[in-house]
Amino acid sequence: MKIRSAEITMSAVNKSQYPDEGIPEIALVGRSNVGKSSIVNTLLNRRNFARTSQTPGKTRTINFYLINKEFFFVDLPGYGYAKIAKSEKEKWGKIMERYLADREELCTIFLLVDIRHEPSNDDVIMYDWIKHFGYNCVVIATKADKISRGQYQKHINIIRKKLQLEPDEKIIPISSLKKTGVEEVWNEIVHQYHENGYDVTVD
Ligand code: GTP
Ligand code: MG
Repeated sequence: MKIRSAEITMSAVNKSQYPDEGIPEIALVGRSNVGKSSIVNTLLNRRNFARTSQTPGKTRTINFYLINKEFFFVDLPGYGYAKIAKSEKEKWGKIMERYLADREELCTIFLLVDIRHEPSNDDVIMYDWIKHFGYNCVVIATKADKISRGQYQKHINIIRKKLQLEPDEKIIPISSLKKTGVEEVWNEIVHQYHENGYDVTVD
C-alpha cells in the first residue's frame, strides 16, 4: 500500500465528534498493551504517529486516522487492564457501545490478541460483541516476534479454539517490532474494504 497521507483527524468520545463524510473505516480493538497503536504505526511505516506507551490503558479515546484521504483506521481504547477503576470501566463500555452499536461506515473490526497467550475472557466477550453487532472480524495475532515461526500454528489453533472463530475467519500473525506480516494485513485491509463495496487505491 502506498501511503500518500496520514492524518489524525479526531480523538472522539461522543458520537457528535465522529467523522461524518461517509468514509469507510476499519477499527482495531483488543486489550490494553496488545499493540493496537503500534500496528497503526507499523502499517504506515511511521515511528510515532499513533501514540504508544509503556503505560497500559493510555488510549482512552476513539482515534480516527485518515489514510490517503480514502479510509480510516480507528484505534479504540483497550480493555482488560486490571488496575483500572470501576468508573473508568463503565466509561469505556459506554464509549465502545456508542460506537459499535450503529456505525454505518465501519466495515470490519480487527481484534488483536497476543500470539503468545490464550485469549482472555474479555477477548471472548469482545469477539461475541463484534458478531452481535454484525461486523466482519479478522483476528490479528500480535507480537509474533516473541515466538518462533514453527510455533505459529500451535498458537493460532489455541486462539481459534478459544474464540470459537468461524472457519472462514482469519488469524494473521504480525510483528510490529520485526515488521513481519505487514503485507498480509494490508492485503486483508484492501480485501475487507472491497467486500464492503469500497474501492481503495493500492498504489
Ligand atoms: P493501549 O493504547 O494501552 O490500549 O495499548 P495498545 O494496544 O495501543 O499497545 P501499544 O501499541 O501501545 O503497545 C504496547 C507495548 O507493546 C509497547 O511497549 C510496544 O512497544 C509493545 N509492542 C507492540 N507491538 C509489539 C510487537 O510486535 N513486538 C514486541 N516485542 N512488542 C510490541
Ligand atoms: Mg494504544
